[in-house]
Amino acid sequence: MKLNWGILGAAKIAIEKVVPAMAGSEQFQVLGIASRELAKAKAAAQKLHLKKAYGSYEELIADPDIHIVYNPLPNHLHAEYTLKCIEAGKHVLCEKPIALSSADVQRLIAARDKYQVKVGEAFMVKSHPQWLKVREFVQQGSLGKVKLVQGAFSYFNVIPENIRNIEAYGGGAMWDIGCYPVTTTRFVLGEEPLRVMSLMQKDPAFGTDTLSSVIMQFPSGQAVFSVSTQLAPYQRMTFFGEKKQLEVQIPFNAPIDMACEIKINPGDILQQQVETLQFEVCDQYQLQAEAFTQAVLNNTEVPVTLEDALANTKVLEAIFQSAREGGWVEV
Ligand SMILES: NC(=O)c1ccc[n+]([C@@H]2O[C@H](COP(=O)([O-])OP(=O)(O)OC[C@H]3O[C@@H](n4cnc5c(N)ncnc54)[C@H](OP(=O)(O)O)[C@@H]3O)[C@@H](O)[C@H]2O)c1
Repeated sequence: MKLNWGILGAAKIAIEKVVPAMAGSEQFQVLGIASRELAKAKAAAQKLHLKKAYGSYEELIADPDIHIVYNPLPNHLHAEYTLKCIEAGKHVLCEKPIALSSADVQRLIAARDKYQVKVGEAFMVKSHPQWLKVREFVQQGSLGKVKLVQGAFSYFNVIPENIRNIEAYGGGAMWDIGCYPVTTTRFVLGEEPLRVMSLMQKDPAFGTDTLSSVIMQFPSGQAVFSVSTQLAPYQRMTFFGEKKQLEVQIPFNAPIDMACEIKINPGDILQQQVETLQFEVCDQYQLQAEAFTQAVLNNTEVPVTLEDALANTKVLEAIFQSAREGGWVEV
């Protein structure tokens, strides 16, 4: 039997990336899409060649033909609708950040355990082979002891109606993209930060953070990163070991038509001895959907568990607290 996915909301990420990546599988299909407007759902279903269109999220959640729901709603609706899906007995893959508080993640954990469904956070980067390799390199000691991680992630978006620029929707750089350096650093180091310190600059009209910098102290070293919604697009993650540095060239938005690369430098400041590792072209959204479906079919762990989401959310909460109060905040 093929498992049927349903999509909550005609979101840009669903229409442009996630649903197209899910076509052609023998184990699952995307059966339908819901929107607050039936006409919008129908247009999206037609464009994506989906059989069903629903005029409300509730209708999709109540459909017994839907087994797994993908939730790409604005951030402030993630926990609320993920909970509704769980209570209807659906498995849910929810976009990052899965919740805007650790209390909400705890609620999701309790509901998941009660209804015995699979629930995961859609950090697709953790399904990409480049990140599995980076983690292997670092944890095997190929760079020597890694003591510093440096990250940056930015784009320029000042459209007032974009969900990223609406404070009440959980907008801002930290919730939207700050979550990536946090999750990938935790993933690669295999540790949780002990304490964090941050600085946030906010847009006077939007109230959202548009430029934020963070220091995280881990047991084995330090991680520093900056994120912005109002700088030219850029993304990079660098891991500094006692012997070598490793740079992830396109850490987050890995393209589906170009090989990703990581660069390993044995401390050569002239960059003549830099080794480049290329990864086979792949679609991290496809890999994510396959891994999640496998977890449902085989009753195994989803790629990014709620326990992992809870740890990530606690770090983000501490980062916001530090920005408000100043100084170090223990995680
Ligand atoms: N993993 C990734 O690579 C990635 C990339 C981009 C975004 N994301 C995440 O995906 C989510 C959606 O991002 P997006 O850029 O696709 O957003 P978007 O295009 O604005 O889509 C959000 C959808 O939510 C629905 N919605 C329900 N209530 C809404 C409200 N009050 N205001 C606006 N929309 C509302 C709308 O669907 P209907 O009108 O059809 O009901 C809308 O299309 C975010 O959580 C974001 O963090 C993840």
